[in-house]
Amino acid sequence: MNLRALALLSGVSYAIAQVTVYGELPLGQTQSFAEWQTTTVRAAYNSTQLQVPALPVEAITNAFTMQLAKDAAVVSGLSIPHVGAGFFGFSIEMSVINQVLGKNSSFINVPFLNLMANIAERAGQVVVRLGGNTQEYAVLVDGDDPRLEVGHSYGKVESASTGTTLTPATMFTLEMLYTCRKISDMIDLKWFLGIPFNDSVDWRLAIVEYGEEILGDDLLGLQAGNEPDFYVQFGRRAPGYTAYDYFNEVGDLINVMAPNDRIPRKNILIAPSTSGKVWQAETVWETGFLDAYQDHMYGITVEYYPWDNCAAMYTGIEANIRDPQEILNYYVDHNNAIALVSPYHNTGNLAIQVRKPLMMFETNTASCGGFPGISNSYVAAIWGLDYGLQMAQSNFTHAMIHVGGQNVFYNPFTAPPTEEAAFNQWTVGPIFYSALIMAEVFGKSNTSRTIDLQANMGSGSTPAYAIYENDQISKVALFNFLSDPTGANDLSVALTVDGGVPASVNVKYLLAASITELNDITWAGQTFGNSKQADGRLRGDLNVTNVPCDQASNICRVYVPAPGFALVFFNDGDEALRVSQASQTFATTAWLKGHNTATFDLQAIQTSNGHGGAQRDDKSGTSVGFRKKGAAVGARKLGWGGMLALVGGVVGVWFGMDGI
Ligand SMILES: *[C@@H]1O[C@H](CO)[C@@H](O)[C@H](O)[C@H]1NC(C)=O
Ligand SMILES: *[C@@H]1O[C@H](CO)[C@@H](O)[C@H](O)[C@H]1NC(C)=O
Ligand SMILES: *[C@@H]1O[C@H](CO)[C@@H](O)[C@H](O)[C@H]1NC(C)=O
Ligand SMILES: *[C@@H]1O[C@H](CO)[C@@H](O)[C@H](O)[C@H]1NC(C)=O
Ligand SMILES: *[C@@H]1O[C@H](CO)[C@@H](O)[C@H](O)[C@H]1NC(C)=O
Ligand SMILES: *[C@@H]1O[C@H](CO)[C@@H](O)[C@H](O)[C@H]1NC(C)=O
Repeated sequence: MNLRALALLSGVSYAIAQVTVYGELPLGQTQSFAEWQTTTVRAAYNSTQLQVPALPVEAITNAFTMQLAKDAAVVSGLSIPHVGAGFFGFSIEMSVINQVLGKNSSFINVPFLNLMANIAERAGQVVVRLGGNTQEYAVLVDGDDPRLEVGHSYGKVESASTGTTLTPATMFTLEMLYTCRKISDMIDLKWFLGIPFNDSVDWRLAIVEYGEEILGDDLLGLQAGNEPDFYVQFGRRAPGYTAYDYFNEVGDLINVMAPNDRIPRKNILIAPSTSGKVWQAETVWETGFLDAYQDHMYGITVEYYPWDNCAAMYTGIEANIRDPQEILNYYVDHNNAIALVSPYHNTGNLAIQVRKPLMMFETNTASCGGFPGISNSYVAAIWGLDYGLQMAQSNFTHAMIHVGGQNVFYNPFTAPPTEEAAFNQWTVGPIFYSALIMAEVFGKSNTSRTIDLQANMGSGSTPAYAIYENDQISKVALFNFLSDPTGANDLSVALTVDGGVPASVNVKYLLAASITELNDITWAGQTFGNSKQADGRLRGDLNVTNVPCDQASNICRVYVPAPGFALVFFNDGDEALRVSQASQTFATTAWLKGHNTATFDLQAIQTSNGHGGAQRDDKSGTSVGFRKKGAAVGARKLGWGGMLALVGGVVGVWFGMDGI
C-alpha cells in the first residue's frame, strides 16, 4: 500500500506520514488511525507476550533499610500538596468519544461510568480532557446533520484542502456536551475541552460558548492549541511559524473572547501544550507568555510520550520499526523515569510562582498506539506508577492518560467492537490500575505530598517514594521491577521511622505473574478482569496484608515480590485502606432493544441539568432521548451510598465505529 493511500485510510494528513517516514521524527501525538492492515487481531486485543528482561548481572540489594522522617517539616524537596481529582485523569481523543463515553446522552456507556466512579471514590473527583489533534478542525453541527451517523454526537468527514494536505473536518453536536453534562451529574467528573485552532482568523468558539453554558463549573479549562510546535509539520501553519506567532494567536483569541458575553469565564485557558519534540515549554515562555497571559489561564500544560511506535503502526518502514522486546528495558529502569520528568522541573517552578496547575495533558507508554507486550502488560501498570509519582514529586498536578480506539495497544479502557458489544466485554488496560492506585496514594485530604526516596539508585530496579499527608508520614510506595519466579530477587525492605514505627502497617499489592504478564493483574486482591471481560467494576475480595512491626527495634519489614508494587499504609484509619469497588455502581440490569441499559438516578438528572436545560429544549432534534426519560423501566435498585436509587431513563451501551 502506498503512503498516500495509507494516509487517506488513516484519516491523517499526508504531511504527518511524511514526517514519520522521512524525518523519523517521533510523533508527540497519537491519533485514531486505522490499524496497520497486516494485523488481524485489533491492537487493543493483541496477545503477544514479551520475554521478561534478563536479571542484572550484578545482584541487586534485596534487603535494605529506608529511614523515614515522621514529620514533613524536616523533609526537604517534598512536592506541593496534591489536591483532589486523583493524579491521573484521562485524555480522550474526540474521534472516539462515541465509542468510549457513549453514542449520545441517552446512551452513555455503563463501564465508563463504573471506571470513573472508581477513581472518584478514591480521589473525590476525576478529570477528563476531550480533545487531541481532532479538536483543531472541530465544527458544531446540528444533531440531524446528514453527514452524521444517526444518533451520534460526533463524526468526521475528509475534505481535501490545500495541496497534498488532507483536512479532516470533525463534527460534533450539542449532544457531545450534553453527554458530558449527564456524566458530571452522575459522577464528580470535571472536563477540559479544546478550542479549534486551525483557523486563527475566523475563530470557531461554539465549543467555548456552549461548553460554558452547558457544563458550567464542571468545565475546568479550555485548551488553546494542541502541540503548536507540530503545526508546521502537520501542514496547519506555513513554514516559519514560531512560538512568537503562537503567542500572538493566543493574544488574538483572548481579544476575540473578551467582548463575547456568551463566554462568562474568559480566564480558563490552557496552554501551551507543547509536545517537547520541536519546542520545549521554555520556547514559549521566552516570548513572555506567562507574564502576558497568566490572568487568562486556568493552567499550564505540556504533552509528551517517551517513545513512539509510528513506524510499526503506520508506515511499515522496516528500518524504523522498534523492537518492543528491546524497548522493554526502558520501562523497568527508574533512572529513565527521572530523565523523562526532569526537563519539566523548571516549568514546575514557574507554575508554582504563577500559582497555576501544571498538567501533562497527554501521555502514555508510547505515541502512535504504544507497543505490543509493553503497553498492555503489567509493566505498563508499574511503570505508570513510577512515572506518575515522579511527575507528582516534580510538582505536576495531573497527568492525562491518552485513550484511543481498538487500534491501539495502550488504552486504559477499551469498548468492545460494535459487533460483539456487551456491557461486560470491555477491556481494562494495565495503566488504568496506575490511575486507580495513584488516586489512593494521594487520597482526598488535599494535603498529600511526595518525594522520591532515591532507594538503591545504582540499579534503577527498586525505587521508592514517601507520601506525607497532614504533615506526617502516611505511606511508602515500594517497587520491584525485576521479574524472577525463584524468589531470589524478592525484596525485604526495613522501614524505620524517626520517632518510632506503629505496631503494624498495612500493605496493598499490585501483582501479576511476571513483568510482561497480560492477564490476571490484581490490586489488593481485586481485578477488573482480563481482555473483554470487564464492566468497570472491581471483582474479588479486598486483600490487605497486615504486617506487624518490631517497635523495639523500630522496624517494619515489608516484602515486595519480583515483580511487585507495594503501597504501605502507616495509618490504620486511612480511608484508602478500605476502599475497594466504588459504592456508586452503575449496574446493568435491563435489556432494551438489543442494548444493555443501566440504572441511574432519574431525579439527579432531572434536577441537576440546570446549565443545559434551556438550550436543550430549543434543540428539539437533540433532545429525544432526554424526553424519553419518563418511560421508566426495570426495578428499584439501591446503591450503598443511596446515591443511585431509581431505575430511570435508559443509559445504553453503545459502541460506535472506530474513530476513522
Ligand atoms: C500483535 O501485534 C504485533 C505487532 O503489530 C503483530 O506482529 C502480532 O502478530 C500481533 N499478535 C497478535 C496475537 O495479534
Ligand atoms: C441516541 O441514539 C439513539 C439510538 O440510536 C437514538 O434513538 C436517539 O435518537 C439518539 N438521541 C439523540 C438525542 O440523538
Ligand atoms: C478550519 O477548519 C474548518 C472546519 O474544518 C474549516 O471550515 C476551515 O476552512 C479551516 N480553516 C483553515 C484556515 O484551515
Ligand atoms: C516542588 O515544589 C516544592 C515546593 O515549592 C519544592 O520544594 C520542590 O523542590 C519542587 N520539586 C522539584 C523537583 O522541583
Ligand atoms: C479538596 O479539594 C477539592 C477541590 O478543590 C474540594 O472540592 C474538596 O472539598 C477538598 N477536600 C478537603 C478535605 O478539603
Ligand atoms: C492476600 O495477599 C497476600 C500477599 O500477596 C497473599 O500471600 C495471600 O495469599 C492473599 N490472601 C488471599 C486470601 O488471597
